[in-house]
Amino acid sequence: MAFPAQRLRRLRASGALRSLVRETELSPKDLVLPLFVRSGRNLRNPIASLPGHFQYSVDRLVAEVRDLRSLQIAGVILFGIPARKDSKASGAYARNGIIQQAVRALKEAAPEALVITDLCFCEYTDHGHCGFIRTRGEGWVLDNDVTLEWMAKTAVSQAEAGADLVAPSGMMDGQVRAIRQALDRSGFAMTPILSYAAKYASAFYGPFREAAESPPQFGDRLSYQMDPANFREALREVEQDVEEGADMILVKPALPYLDVLRAVRERFPVPVGAYSVSGEFAMIRAAAQKGWLDEKKAVLEALVSIKRAGADFILTYFAKEAAQWLREG
Ligand code: PBG
Repeated sequence: MAFPAQRLRRLRASGALRSLVRETELSPKDLVLPLFVRSGRNLRNPIASLPGHFQYSVDRLVAEVRDLRSLQIAGVILFGIPARKDSKASGAYARNGIIQQAVRALKEAAPEALVITDLCFCEYTDHGHCGFIRTRGEGWVLDNDVTLEWMAKTAVSQAEAGADLVAPSGMMDGQVRAIRQALDRSGFAMTPILSYAAKYASAFYGPFREAAESPPQFGDRLSYQMDPANFREALREVEQDVEEGADMILVKPALPYLDVLRAVRERFPVPVGAYSVSGEFAMIRAAAQKGWLDEKKAVLEALVSIKRAGADFILTYFAKEAAQWLREG
């Protein structure tokens, strides 16, 4: 043939054709919105590092989640900012802790909304690390197994409050098994675990730490979160979590780790989510505010790419806007 038999542009010639051959669909049902809750009343405090996001008191959180109904997003994941922090993270597993109060209120006011509770301690410890810190000589270590005990009781108290799904994000070894056993023993055999199986030590968490008031007061998280350079290790993390009983797993962050997401999708038959983190939001929002990017196009492109790479669902700070845009078509 004189000319290539295939002209791939043929199928790009009209909107109808492009739509017919589109391989990946994005829907509001794929999206989960992270929300921040703090004690107090009638609060909706803007978060400077996440423009358009707020720390809500429980009453305003309930109103916000009611408003989300019409958008038909999948659900919300809650992060709590407790009134007091201490060395034992007691606010995380207190019966009347901020998350427990928030979940109870949401389950009463909007029972159909899917409520995921993040299960980490950095917001609850006075040092901002994700577990129990032991001093050793001049330095410190994060004690894995004491932290597992905290995780077990936090998971049970969140499930008691009515959480639909608990999401351990501390990257402790054995966290899924510890939580599964505790939930099963306490009558919550049907509460699923969404494990942050492959969570990297990422600079892209910067804006979140301001939002959640959780930056480490000393050191860093390199002894528990993963090295961004590592790929195979992510597969080992996921393998372990699945063996320990994780019902779904998360890869976090999303955009810089699409290779990990794709590999996990191909190798493990469990539902896989991606957490498009605060820094990913910040990059697009800041550029859009400067007029350097078209926010709608950039967000929808980023989200469809995360799905194309293999995510079944996406935790994103753009969930509301994206759902609105998708509805408008
Ligand atoms: C808790 C936690 C973090 C994020 C979610 N859960 C921060 C961290 O590990 O420091 C970050 C999420 C985001 O950046 O949007 N450990």
